[in-house]
Amino acid sequence: MKIIKIPEDWDQLWAKTLLNNQKIGFVPTMGALHEGHLELVRYAINECDFIVVSIFVNPTQFNNPSDFESYPKTIEADLSLLEKEGIDAVFIPETHTMYPREVELSLDFGSIEKVLEGKFRPGHFSGVGIVVSKLFNLIRPHKAFFGQKDLQQVAVIKRLVNDLSFPVKLRIIPTKREKDGLALSSRNVRLSPSQRKEALILIQSLAKARTELLAGQSWLQVSQEIREDFSKQPEPRLEYFELVHPDTFEVFQTFDPNQKNFLCVAAYLGDVRLIDNLQVND
Ligand code: PAJ
Repeated sequence: MKIIKIPEDWDQLWAKTLLNNQKIGFVPTMGALHEGHLELVRYAINECDFIVVSIFVNPTQFNNPSDFESYPKTIEADLSLLEKEGIDAVFIPETHTMYPREVELSLDFGSIEKVLEGKFRPGHFSGVGIVVSKLFNLIRPHKAFFGQKDLQQVAVIKRLVNDLSFPVKLRIIPTKREKDGLALSSRNVRLSPSQRKEALILIQSLAKARTELLAGQSWLQVSQEIREDFSKQPEPRLEYFELVHPDTFEVFQTFDPNQKNFLCVAAYLGDVRLIDNLQVND
């Protein structure tokens, strides 16, 4: 496994993949790798010839500086996990390599920016869009792999690829969960044992809401009930619980079974912010 720190070194490897006619599969990450990330890596290995994973904690997508500072960094463990999976290269750029000067560019994803993650994390998707664009330009992958866990990020990246004509195919991989249902996240390691138990209300409330919607209850009733469930305990503190279209992120006021519907939740345990989502119907 080659460890690449500067784009010039990647260019040499890239030229070899071109000569060998290899399809490049790319998995962008911010490190602190877990089985969710590895799931993306395994799909990439299955579908491509040459696999690159990037590890870069991107400062421009953190709207909260303390979240950036406390973001877990486990580079040695990450490298050994990736080595075991048998990937070909890891791209670990320094911040000054990615951002030699302060970025003044910003991206606006329109209506997607105004709701859920866009609303509660101002500037976040601009930062994601910029770093993913830079990574696509540097790595030039054939296919890039993203997790459905970050559903709104997926919508943003689909727009980015479409609107800027990036020649890359996107593959969206289902959310990997712990046995008890908690979605894997790099932030889970920051939960205390009691917070870890309390965090289960995220997936439990999503599952409950889905069951009730499919049984014919109104979204108004269901969402009120879920808000009450959250308010019964001090944590997690609910930030949003919404029913949305997965591509447009239109926030629905009623449940229409003829539309694509996803339930999305965000909540805080202490200063750890967790998100999750669940598809309601096919
Ligand atoms: P990060 O949070 O490290 O996630 C990297 C990729 O792993 C994302 O596509 C994310 O959706 C996916 N992922 C995380 N948890 C998952 C799970 N439980 N199951 C399946 N996939 C999961 O998302 C980012 O980094 C950054 O925003 C990035 C795209 C790298 C840009 O900086």
